Amino acid sequence: MALTVSGQTTGTKTFQVKADQVYGEIAPTMYGVFFEDINLGADGGIYAELVKNRSFEFETPLMGWKELKQNNAEGSLLVHNRGELNGANPRFLRLTSKSDNGGYGILNEGFRGMGIKKGEQYNFTVMARQQPGSNLPMVVELLSAKGEKLGSATVTPTGTDWKKYEASITASGTDPKAQLQVIAKGKGALDLDMISLFPKNTWKNRPNGLRADMVQLLADMKPGFLRFPGGCIVEGRTLDERFQWKKTIGEVANRATLVNRWNTEFKHRHTPDYFQTFGLGFFEYFQLAEDIGAAPLPILNCGMACQFNTGEVVPLDQMDPYIQDALDLIEFANGPATSEWGKIRAQMGHPAPFNMKYLGVGNEQWGEQYVERYKIFEKALKAKYPDVKLITTTGPFPDGPEFDYLNKTMRSLNADIIDEHYYRAPEWFQQNATRYDNYDRKGPKIFAGEYASQTVAIASPENKNNWKGALSEAAFMTGLERNADVVVMASYAPLFAHEEGWQWTPDMIWVNNLQSFGTPNYYVQKLFSTNVGTHLVPIQRNNANVTGQDNLFASASINKKTNELILKVVNTSDKAQDGEFVLTGVKNPQSKGTVQKMRSSNLGQMNSFADPKALSPVQESISVKNNRVKLSLEPYSVNVIKVKASSLANNTATSSSKGGSTQGR
Ligand code: AHR
Repeated sequence: MALTVSGQTTGTKTFQVKADQVYGEIAPTMYGVFFEDINLGADGGIYAELVKNRSFEFETPLMGWKELKQNNAEGSLLVHNRGELNGANPRFLRLTSKSDNGGYGILNEGFRGMGIKKGEQYNFTVMARQQPGSNLPMVVELLSAKGEKLGSATVTPTGTDWKKYEASITASGTDPKAQLQVIAKGKGALDLDMISLFPKNTWKNRPNGLRADMVQLLADMKPGFLRFPGGCIVEGRTLDERFQWKKTIGEVANRATLVNRWNTEFKHRHTPDYFQTFGLGFFEYFQLAEDIGAAPLPILNCGMACQFNTGEVVPLDQMDPYIQDALDLIEFANGPATSEWGKIRAQMGHPAPFNMKYLGVGNEQWGEQYVERYKIFEKALKAKYPDVKLITTTGPFPDGPEFDYLNKTMRSLNADIIDEHYYRAPEWFQQNATRYDNYDRKGPKIFAGEYASQTVAIASPENKNNWKGALSEAAFMTGLERNADVVVMASYAPLFAHEEGWQWTPDMIWVNNLQSFGTPNYYVQKLFSTNVGTHLVPIQRNNANVTGQDNLFASASINKKTNELILKVVNTSDKAQDGEFVLTGVKNPQSKGTVQKMRSSNLGQMNSFADPKALSPVQESISVKNNRVKLSLEPYSVNVIKVKASSLANNTATSSSKGGSTQGR
């Protein structure tokens, strides 16, 4: 299954690399990550809460819960709604136990079970109160899928006022499908809310924290930015179901649960139990970005619901709340701790600003209705925060009438950064490695905000995270990188998928309740993001950029901080090709460089929970002689060559970086 886009040639392929001909800078934001709560990405995924429907706010209040009667115990469960008093968290459960003996209670199934690890500590918390005259203890137990006890604790709420109670359990066994039960012992009645179980071992051991293994995979990429919270989730199926950042901050119990729009989006992957608790809210997203060294890049609803669904719009004269949300978000992120919104950030534990420099207005909108609304945002935001770069959209497709209209319009409006999305076949990625070669150097910058090779068809459930897709993305990414003077950000999408809870595939990282692994697509992204230079230099064959001739693709950069030359070379053919890289402008290169290779003769190769790194980079050393590097470019391979020098020729950006010539780019 050769991915041949042009004919083969024989003989050594000579590449001229001119490290002294810098033609542009690479933005530190260049390679980032795109986060959306799709595929159980947040609830049931990176957000480490193990209890599903902890506050009974799902559409069906007891979804995820079961009544339990031990030794024929009698009792009743009654859902109360105090909506008048607490609009954000209206429901709680009254558990009335009617037997002296036995135990009456509830069992939570978790998100396709709960991932529990032997020897680890789990922190149980609950909001509870006794009903008058009652003094019921609760036994909290972790059970394996087979019903064996993995640990327990007893909590006895005192008094008739709501209070928070805590207990910790150390698990005696490992199970990806464990469950939690809460059993009242004796007669009486208890009110329960926010029944929660977290591993102690979260990312940075934070309470209400994130799964450490999943964050680590992101941190390992050293991403330049973190885009959040989506995706179509920002838009909502209806405007009522849109993402509203202000409802995702402050006390976790006061963040109103909302349906997740991906629950029934695809008939082939219905997920009726998919809701957003917003335990991972905007504060936590900013904190995550900071933790992994990524620039925060929030995207806000622009007064339009998803156009693949209702496409509802807010009347133009009623946009004020949306604009105010955007202004307040900038203050929340960047304002002093004394400002109205900065104060809330400080109260949540982060007095220092988050230093947000980018804001997305709308996700994947199209049509005049987007332009009309974008202009209102632009006017208000630029008046108050001229330094915050706004990201505008060109719709869901990389070409066609919607794209052309918005591309032209946004350029005429002198937009800061334009977001382009491409969910396309692997062949498209190879054929479009030159996409940006002739983009206007003086116009808006580009954010390649969502892309992924669709190995079968867009969002087909048969798409695979295989080498064919990842290799094609690598070929395309050399084109992004060659044009990094205009493309300032790029991110693969979607990011996470739960093996039993996904709606969309392919996805960069797959998880189950205990494990996570990076796909070949992940390792391609990581190869690029962890080997990114500071400046662009030409790499050419026969005075032409390397954009698919002989199925070879290449980009080159230098890192002025480390004096390294970095070459990325992709061979999409099924033949090994001998390459010789002739380096100019590299002074006293070290005699040994490195090459990181990803290769497989099997384009269908994937990674798995059993073999998570089956296809991942391996590093070898490589000789540098007479300013030349020779490398056999193996069939279907991505190669990152690094050569360190005592210095790189001193140079400055040439005029080609500022516009005009594509020669040498
Ligand atoms: O990444 C999945 C979806 O694809 C995103 O939510 C949306 O922006 C795009 O259509």
